[in-house]
Amino acid sequence: MKILIKNGTLVNSDKSLIADILIINDRISEISSNIATSYDFKVIDAKDKYVIPGGIDPHVHMQLPNPAGYSSDSFHTGSKAAIFGGTTTLIDFVTPSRGQSLTDALQTRIDEAKNAITNYSFHVSPVEWRSSTESEIKECLIKGFPSFKVYLAYQNTIGLNNNEFQQVLYTVGKLGGLVTIHCELGNEIEKTRNKFISENKTSVKYHPASRPTELEAKAVATTISLAKKHNCPIYIVHVSSEQSLNLIKEAQQTGQTVYAETCPHYLLLDDLRYIGEFDKTAPFVISPPLRKKADQDALWKAISNNTIQTLGTDHCPFNLNQKRFGLNDFTKIPNGAGSVEHRLELLFTFGVLTNKISINKLVDITSTQAAKIFGLFPQKGIITKGADADIVIWNPKVERIISSRTHKQNCDCNIFDGFKIRGQAETVIRGGEIIVENTSLSANVSKGKLIMR
Ligand code: URP
Ligand code: ZN
Ligand code: ZN
Repeated sequence: MKILIKNGTLVNSDKSLIADILIINDRISEISSNIATSYDFKVIDAKDKYVIPGGIDPHVHMQLPNPAGYSSDSFHTGSKAAIFGGTTTLIDFVTPSRGQSLTDALQTRIDEAKNAITNYSFHVSPVEWRSSTESEIKECLIKGFPSFKVYLAYQNTIGLNNNEFQQVLYTVGKLGGLVTIHCELGNEIEKTRNKFISENKTSVKYHPASRPTELEAKAVATTISLAKKHNCPIYIVHVSSEQSLNLIKEAQQTGQTVYAETCPHYLLLDDLRYIGEFDKTAPFVISPPLRKKADQDALWKAISNNTIQTLGTDHCPFNLNQKRFGLNDFTKIPNGAGSVEHRLELLFTFGVLTNKISINKLVDITSTQAAKIFGLFPQKGIITKGADADIVIWNPKVERIISSRTHKQNCDCNIFDGFKIRGQAETVIRGGEIIVENTSLSANVSKGKLIMR
């Protein structure tokens, strides 16, 4: 198929220009000021609209197992929500059971994701250290999965202890990969949670109380120093607090490779959401928890001064009846919330339209940086001749209100319910195929591709 996008404002992370873009098959074939139409081109007029690289969300959990049931989006429903929000590539996680090999779990996860309509890839999580783990890590790298994910929280299930963590840092560093880390001190959190429950403090407000910023920052500090010791580049996921940012900035200033990600909810929601009745507050139970207004301000600043490289969503929705698993015990509430379809529109509305960031910065943190850090660049993350034709035509004028009654994700609650937003992914092209046209899903869309990086 040949698609000609005319008159749009093409936005890359470093510059914008008004230009036409010709797509032939799955690639961008030409960019110039006036490309002549032809009878066999599908022509799309993008006048007064932005034309941006397809979003890359480097942090999602579709179909994540939990005692309360799987997170409510399958790869199909979650990727559909992502596409409607202007995201064409997702990076999810491979989380083995203890005793299972990383490569086995990787294959299972690849099979689970095959109905995704975005492109997709995976970070692989060592959840223990065994004699075979080094060779399994090597195999994942060779297969094209060079990023690994370590949890310092959730010690009872998937979290690593200090020794295991060091083994991963040393091994991945030596082999040339990247380690991403959920930074919260799991054992300390567990102690506080147990204390609260023994005192019959079981309601939602004890969730944030059991996971203070100090325990995130201490985990960040340990992570930075161990990564330095083992010479391993790191990427700290879902950074939520000013304290953590200060440590990250300090490390970056010494030249250490430390990337940071934050999420829309840490920029736009605060811990007052935990005050009130269960059904109103439980949807906000995520880890790390929502923080204070001062942390939000620090996060916005850190985006502007490049301390933060990426905006991921940590998309992990659970229905209310799943959240009610912890009705009488906050420690049993499944952690997570969904926002994969809202990432760009929230950032556009509350970042670009308030002049906190430029439209180029939006592209940078929702696409370009993730492509660069995770080995997708320059095929993805940029609109340039020869790159993959993953392109979003963004209408900046549309106004909508986010609602769990109309959202695309498969969930009966939405942490951004009632937010008034501007801007919409009007047309979404993935690999040269129009997946969303004028805000509707095209008929017979093909499956997304597994991306080996
Ligand atoms: O609350 C969260 N973030 N749930 C998903 C799993 C994780 O920790 O990233
Ligand atoms: Zn996490
Ligand atoms: Zn996560």
